Amino acid sequence: MSTFYDEIGGEEFFVELVSGFYARVETNPILRPMYPESDMKGAAWRLQKFLEQYWGGPGTYSEERGHPRLRMRHAGFEIDTTARDAWLACMMAAIDDMDVEEVLRNQLVSYVEMAAHSMVNRPQ
Ligand code: HEM
Repeated sequence: MSTFYDEIGGEEFFVELVSGFYARVETNPILRPMYPESDMKGAAWRLQKFLEQYWGGPGTYSEERGHPRLRMRHAGFEIDTTARDAWLACMMAAIDDMDVEEVLRNQLVSYVEMAAHSMVNRPQ
């Protein structure tokens, strides 16, 4: 059975998506200071592998990093609704750059919106 990962274009799709996302994070005044100065490549790799695994691709993320527990992993970052909206704006712009079928796009957008809302850990 083919997975969402296969249908949307496999690793190539996620490499490009995450690269578009981090290109925006790097120039975003709210997000840039939150990310590791000297390890943006590592951060990009972690997000890419997580998303691939989530959508039915290889389990490399958990092999290397263990259980995702994303809320816990984000607890050290102050994520208020402003940071969430900045993150989502970078991700939506990266998604908009991709050539992707509407049904798949809608699934991806619903997921990132839901996930971003669930990562908020500070009151505004
Ligand atoms: C809502 C706003 C968000 C902010 C401000 C934020 C910020 C961050 C920061 C600063 C890091 C550390 C970078 C690193 O070294 O890996 C990180 C890691 C990560 N984020 Fe987010 N994030 C947000 C939402 C999300 C969402 C919605 C997802 C998933 C769909 C996600 C997935 C990840 C993953 C997989 C990692 C690496 C975890 C690890 O293995 O250590 N983040 N995030």
